[in-house]
Formats: sequence, C-alpha cells, structure tokens
Amino acid sequence: MSLAPLLKEVVVHPDPLTIALEAAREGAAVLLAHANRPLEIAEKGRRADLVTAADRASEAAILAVLRAAFPSAAVLAEESGAAPGTSDERWIVDPLDGTTNYAHGYPLYCISIAFERAGELIAGVVYAPAMGECFAAERGAGARRNDAPIAVSTIERVGDAMLCTGFHPADYERNARFFGQASHRAQAVRRDGSAALDLAYTACGRFDGFWEFDLHPWDVAAGTLLVREAGGRVTRVDRGEARVDARSILASNARIHDELADVLA
Ligand code: IPD
Ligand code: CA
Ligand code: CA
Repeated sequence: MSLAPLLKEVVVHPDPLTIALEAAREGAAVLLAHANRPLEIAEKGRRADLVTAADRASEAAILAVLRAAFPSAAVLAEESGAAPGTSDERWIVDPLDGTTNYAHGYPLYCISIAFERAGELIAGVVYAPAMGECFAAERGAGARRNDAPIAVSTIERVGDAMLCTGFHPADYERNARFFGQASHRAQAVRRDGSAALDLAYTACGRFDGFWEFDLHPWDVAAGTLLVREAGGRVTRVDRGEARVDARSILASNARIHDELADVLA
C-alpha cells in the first residue's frame, strides 16, 4: 500500500518556544547592531515615550520569523499593532522593552515574545542580549535562564524583600505614593526601566516582587508566564485576576504576595 495518502495527513506543528527563541535571536542581532550607531530617537506623542529605528527594525526581524512559522496566528506587536489571524493562536511582541535604557547605553533592555493559544499563555521568551541572558518558559514545563532552571525567591516578608516597579512615562505621580509606601516597608525598591526584564528578574529570584500600572500586553505577557512557571504569583495590583490586558500587574514569589498587595492598597 502506498504511504502517500497517509503522509498527506501528517501536519508538522512548529514548537512555539523554539520559534520564539529564534525570533528573539534575530531581534537581538538587530538591536546590538543598531546600538553601535548614532540612534534616531523620536518621541511617540507622550513626553519621554521614546521609539528608535532599532525598535522598528527589531520588530520587522522578529515578525518575519514568527509569521513564516505560524502563518495563521494573530499578532499583537508594539510598533505595528494588532494583525488578525485565522487560528486561536496569537503572538505578543515587544521588540525592545526598555527603549530609554537602550537609547542611553544602559544594558537593561530586552526583547519580549509570548505565544498564546485560546487565550492561554503557552510560551514566553525575554532575551536581554547586552546582559547575555535569555529567559524562557513553557506552560507546565518550568522556566529557565540560559538553559538552567530558575525559581522565585524564598523570602517570606516584605521587610526582607528587594522590590522593583516602573512608572508610566507621562504619569509619574500615580505610582509615587505606592513607591513611597513600599520603600518604607521593603529592604529596597528599584526602578530598572524594563517591565519584561523586571518580571524575568522576579522569576529568577533577584527581585522578590514587582508592580506597575499602565502596562501593555507586550510588556507583561512573556514575563507573566516566566513568573508563574518559576513558582511565583501574578495578579493585578488590586489582587484581581491577571490578564495580559489588565494594565496593572503585581508579580511576586507568591510568599509575600498578600502582604505586598496590602502595602500597595
Ligand atoms: C516601557 C518599559 C518601562 C515601563 C514603561 C514601558 P518600552 O516599555 O517597560 O519599564 O515603565 O511603562 O512603557 O516603551 O521601553 O517598550
Ligand atoms: Ca515595553
Ligand atoms: Ca517597546
């Protein structure tokens, strides 16, 4: 019997994490190449909300890889916006998270790529090329940094914690009070300038908690999966259900989550 009719039925599904890693490497090559050139920096409408030619070129390189492997998936990418797909799959992409850091030569910036199926986060990559660190997670399979498994910290009290937060470029006042409250209670509060990397650092135990308001799906999608797969907890700051479009996020090692939510209440 000929195998041809049977073989026609075999559909090869690419692995989303492998594709996300490949796309992140392509984007990283673009960012590193542009980092050595004078940057064309523009403000995106709001004061201090920067975009560079590197953001756009990185996004183009990333989307080329994702679209070639998953032609039917929808895409939500920071610079080009939403593109519908014909399946229940979606890529969520920030081609450069931490643009202001990047523009100043501060190495805490990254590429963030997440893959959703039927609204569930399935795979996520946060790659910080200038730090030589690639964080990756797959639903149900844990989180890794450069191929080594990672876990959230084991700190039990906010008083022993190092926290991180971020500020909306056009609304510093909104988070100022919370920054003050947390600073009084925690050992330290940092503001590193890349929400996706802040979440990756929470996933690997460098930060014990992170919160921010006014974020977008591309800032939080991959990092949310990293924190969960590393054993942490993610909600909104008001403890409501975490969704990629929730805008506010509170991520922690789980142990200090309720106490931190009280501090920020
Ligand atoms: C920004 C960074 C920053 C956060 C801002 C974001 P961008 O993303 O994640 O840490 O505080 O709210 O907009 O603009 O560098 O991709
Ligand atoms: Ca971002
Ligand atoms: Ca960005």
